[in-house]
Amino acid sequence: MLAVDVVAFAYKFTVGEVRPSEDGRVAVVLTKDERNALLLEMRAWLENSQLILAAASRNDLGGVVKAASASGMAAEAETPASLFRKIPLEMKTLGFATRKKFDGMKPRITLITLGVDDLERSLRFYRDGLGLKSDGIVGKEYEHGAVAFFDLDGGLKLALWPRASIAHDTGLPAGAPSSTEFTLGHNVASRAQVDEVMEQAKRAGATVVKPAHETFWGGYAGYF
Ligand code: HEM
Repeated sequence: MLAVDVVAFAYKFTVGEVRPSEDGRVAVVLTKDERNALLLEMRAWLENSQLILAAASRNDLGGVVKAASASGMAAEAETPASLFRKIPLEMKTLGFATRKKFDGMKPRITLITLGVDDLERSLRFYRDGLGLKSDGIVGKEYEHGAVAFFDLDGGLKLALWPRASIAHDTGLPAGAPSSTEFTLGHNVASRAQVDEVMEQAKRAGATVVKPAHETFWGGYAGYF
């Protein structure tokens, strides 16, 4: 009986609730409420597409992401279960692919990895010196696997990985270390806090490259 139920469910999931329509196309048989739910979703897609275009023309990437994620996979939770069951597999596939394209507009950088020469020493600086949270070095059981992760804000993580391991894994030759390829911004709420962080970094052994100062863009910042 269970097997029959499972087969019946799988059949429904694939075929949906359909019948041939008079004009040769396939009609999906829905109740009025289910049809309204589908049309409402469609209008949301159209509305969000318009919002995406408007935000893009203002060069407002945050606005693009916000409008796009409103039609992404997370919004699928709002589709009534009975409607989901009744639509045929091809339509579900097309619907999911469209949602995933909306999700594709999200920024997905969740991990920033720094190549370091001395993993233990760098871990001490970031964890004990700057106070970032870490479980220490993990992955030692793998050749070139030793790495330390730190939790940053908003789900972002920072990793420290030996430069030699990055060279090995990418197949690129290890280049000369350089301090001008990128910077990491540690944002605090006041000038006093900037001074505190600079002091904390110095105590942890950092070389202060440029003490905190008024910046050309109207802020107050320093480099270490
Ligand atoms: C970004 C892509 C899409 C946009 C902007 C969009 C927009 C719309 C709009 C505005 C309507 C009419 C809504 C109304 O009458 O209130 C509609 C209807 C419909 N759309 Fe979409 N759509 C998109 C993609 C899709 C996809 C991928 C599917 C299939 C999975 C689909 C299936 C349908 C169906 C079945 C209807 C109803 C037609 C009817 O009235 O019987 N649409 N869509």
